[in-house]
Amino acid sequence: MIPKPTVDTILETARVEEVIGDFITLKKRGANLLGLCPFHGEKTPSFTVSPAKNIYKCFGCGKAGSPVNFVMDQLTLSYPEALKWLANKYGIEVVEKEQTTEEKQAQTERESMYIVMSYAQRYFSDKMNNTDEGRSVGLGYFKQREITQNLIEKFGLGYSLEARKQFTEDAVAAGYQPKYLVSTGMSILSNNHIEGQTIESKNLFDRYAGRVMFPIHDVGGRVVGFGGRILSNDKKLAKYINSPETEIYNKSKVLYGLWFAKSAIQKNDKCFLVEGYMDVIAMHQAGFENVVASSGTSLTVEQIKSIHRYTNNIVVLYDGDEAGQKASARAIPMLLEEGMNVRLLFFPDNDDPDSYYRKVSHSEFEEYVNNNTQDFLYYTANKLNEASKGDPIKKAGVIKTIVSSIALIPDNIIRSIYVKECSQIMELDEKILLLETNKIRAAHKKQFHKENNNDVINETEIINNSVTENKEQEVIAPFEAEEKELIRLLLAYGNAYVTIEADDENMEEFDLEITLGEYIFFELSRDAIKFENPIYTSIFDEYVNELSQQRLPNLTYFANHSNPLIGSFVINHVHSNYELSDKWKLYGVLVPNELQLLKKLTRTTLFSYKSKKLNEMYNESQELLKTNDYENGLIISKTLDDLNRMRVRVNFLLGRVVVK
Ligand code: UTP
Ligand code: MN
Repeated sequence: MIPKPTVDTILETARVEEVIGDFITLKKRGANLLGLCPFHGEKTPSFTVSPAKNIYKCFGCGKAGSPVNFVMDQLTLSYPEALKWLANKYGIEVVEKEQTTEEKQAQTERESMYIVMSYAQRYFSDKMNNTDEGRSVGLGYFKQREITQNLIEKFGLGYSLEARKQFTEDAVAAGYQPKYLVSTGMSILSNNHIEGQTIESKNLFDRYAGRVMFPIHDVGGRVVGFGGRILSNDKKLAKYINSPETEIYNKSKVLYGLWFAKSAIQKNDKCFLVEGYMDVIAMHQAGFENVVASSGTSLTVEQIKSIHRYTNNIVVLYDGDEAGQKASARAIPMLLEEGMNVRLLFFPDNDDPDSYYRKVSHSEFEEYVNNNTQDFLYYTANKLNEASKGDPIKKAGVIKTIVSSIALIPDNIIRSIYVKECSQIMELDEKILLLETNKIRAAHKKQFHKENNNDVINETEIINNSVTENKEQEVIAPFEAEEKELIRLLLAYGNAYVTIEADDENMEEFDLEITLGEYIFFELSRDAIKFENPIYTSIFDEYVNELSQQRLPNLTYFANHSNPLIGSFVINHVHSNYELSDKWKLYGVLVPNELQLLKKLTRTTLFSYKSKKLNEMYNESQELLKTNDYENGLIISKTLDDLNRMRVRVNFLLGRVVVK
């Protein structure tokens, strides 16, 4: 048990931004930090960390807590385990009280497994450095592969002696229970073990005898598995033996090297993905520490997500051989689908990073890696273009190939940029590529809905940040959320053109093209609605004033406004949060689909705001009616009638918007 004063010290020392920063990339956003939520899949960040309050909260999924809760969740630890993890991070010494026998027994199975793995790592390293066999065979092997002492230590490399039971016997003699040697996969039960009976060490043998050992760390830095490489070139034997999936080693989640790469990935905003253990180590040797491998399994979505927490950018460095090509053909679509920017790096002559590193000088390697990555889609488009040049039939065929990749990209704007660029590279009409891309997406969506049978609002995510963000605010004023959202839309997208249905003199509907800002103004003024919040009123009035003088109000003006309250509102709520507004500014366009969403979002917000507002006005008038004389009463009744008509209309429109 951890003594109470130590617990207090740990809780007081652990800083939420530092702890979470170990797991995901956080960006400063006002007083808070913002990142992609590790608890639910999201593409736009709604995970907020408050250093001042020392807590985190996700406005997407609602998860919230303290540093210790975060560690418990992320590493699936018990409360005391999480405290120990934090103590270790902050160098706080934990002197545990002597445990009672019950406490010892209650120590979780998993904790015992971690202890076994940590012992095994130290054991293999010790045997490699301090036995004759270890030095000549194990250490000799790594030296021959030119791995420096420094990296041998950093990665905790080791050697498992050739004697078939050596590790098992030594571990049991050191007091580790045979059942944990089996559950961690370190030892294997022999045939003479009778099922149901207590596991005895005489029925066990080592899994890795005679192999060099690569410990596999989880994202929190604990050893959860091993890869063991054979030293001979015997093709009949597996080159690598890996730990089996265990209670503590979830193979589809763990990435080899991530523990050592996390901070470098964040710093460089880029992750190299390689195939093998040796490649990870070679890259480190070459000075690239932002590198991981999906060792022993093919890359999984969960692994991609754990890279995505730190960066959007991935460079795939798979071998050029058949296995490598197959692996990348499988991995790349998954990466695109997760919204990663995918680049490729090929080494000459089918070398892998490790073999190429040993062929050339350090600086040549570094230069090669820095200068030879290519964007996956542009690379593919170029390749397809060359293959189909001057052959219309072939050309028709390759469109499908490129489009099937582009269609995977979840972000509408990035996708539309690729459509444009790839159509240029392939000398194709952009419209054809767009059409084909949309066809595939429509088919996927249908399929997805069929499989999930639910209404996923994926697409609205891009502009819905705001909606989730509103949940953050305890409602101060009854209309605060809607008013804030309308002002945000006005400032961020007010200059975008939308088509609305309007009535002409004869009450005939026709399509009218106006700016979103005019639309908001038009809707609010025709029901004589005024904002409650004086800041919003000033912004809105100034906006309208600009419009009336035929000027398109610009965001920079408001951001640098002489009224600091206006400036800070714009910076906190309009400028920062919205990827869309940034990209939009960057590329100067919104694709049609997004305009559609934008219009819908604006309409919904407008009408729910109006509906609330009209209700309030109606109730106020009713109160007035009670306390007034006949003459005034008549006027008030007339107002009530008017308000009621407006309410009916607004609710009707709101209903239409909601069901649409
Ligand atoms: P490679 O065969 O490319 O090995 O397998 P490598 O990493 O280049 O190793 P060296 O350079 O020959 O020592 C790539 C990865 O696939 C997994 C391992 O994770 C390996 O690093 N693998 C390969 C296995 O799990 N088992 C095997 O038998 C072979
Ligand atoms: Mn290799």
